[in-house]
Amino acid sequence: MAAPKPGDLSTVIALSAPAKLNLTLEVLGRRSDGYHELRSVLQTISLADRLTIEPAEDLFFVCDDPQLAGPDNLVMRAATRLREAAEVDTGARIRLEKHIPAAGGLGGGSSDAAAALHGLSRLWGLDWGPEQLAPLAAALGSDVPFFLWGGTALAEGRGERITPLPPIPPLWFVLLSRADTEPDKTRRIFSAFDPRSASDGSATERVVVGLQVGRIDPTHFVNDLMAPARRVFGEVEALAHAVDTLGARPLLAGAGPSLFCAATSRSQAEDWAAALERQGIPALVVRPVTSQALQ
Ligand code: C5P
Repeated sequence: MAAPKPGDLSTVIALSAPAKLNLTLEVLGRRSDGYHELRSVLQTISLADRLTIEPAEDLFFVCDDPQLAGPDNLVMRAATRLREAAEVDTGARIRLEKHIPAAGGLGGGSSDAAAALHGLSRLWGLDWGPEQLAPLAAALGSDVPFFLWGGTALAEGRGERITPLPPIPPLWFVLLSRADTEPDKTRRIFSAFDPRSASDGSATERVVVGLQVGRIDPTHFVNDLMAPARRVFGEVEALAHAVDTLGARPLLAGAGPSLFCAATSRSQAEDWAAALERQGIPALVVRPVTSQALQ
């Protein structure tokens, strides 16, 4: 495929950059490089940012959230690295419309970066697929490679080793999205993790085996970062309690502080969300999004 010419305004690539939930996140232990070894089943969901990419002679980036608009944004870092790695001598104008709360544990920044890699690979006529983009993605952050595939996937290593899984059977999630305001949130949560509570990865294994035969059992969902998150984030305890009182099981989204619970019917999810809203807790019903829906 020939690269579109800069200035050809007919070329506008529009991409959806979905949030994710970790259905399981098991911490197996601390590694010698300072990271933690993980086993996690990840799922993209219907809450998404929007990215548009157009040809330009240099790299430009704008975002509707001024706090995220600087050159340090992961989207701009992804674009710069891809341009260097592929020795591209043109640019792009990238617009990001945020809907996923930043620093909430929903992977928004990582998803934006992965969408930028896909979109720029198309715009610049590189035709790089997920496998070829994955090393660049992993250098940007442990969660970025997953979003190159999206859908349902097993993540291992520090989270960057991805094995796509069959799509999950119908499920609804009630999302209590929260954002952290302090820097280095993920690092802080991992350093508060007590190595004595390390897992053996068996909960993830059960979910993977279930998915392979078309079954899902939300009672196997788990997040080992819940205990440190309860200590580090003021709000998590109260939100988890509110979910508990509904008879639902609160789960941490990634490294938090957002929480979610899984429902096996839409009406169940809507009832839970309405009950939380009545207590003044904003809650959103979201669906899984398959990797095909993202193409
Ligand atoms: O890879 P990423 O930049 O998202 O990680 C941020 C920080 O989170 C790391 O510097 C590390 O302190 C911590 N982390 C970890 N184990 C992982 C992923 C992240 O300890 N598997």
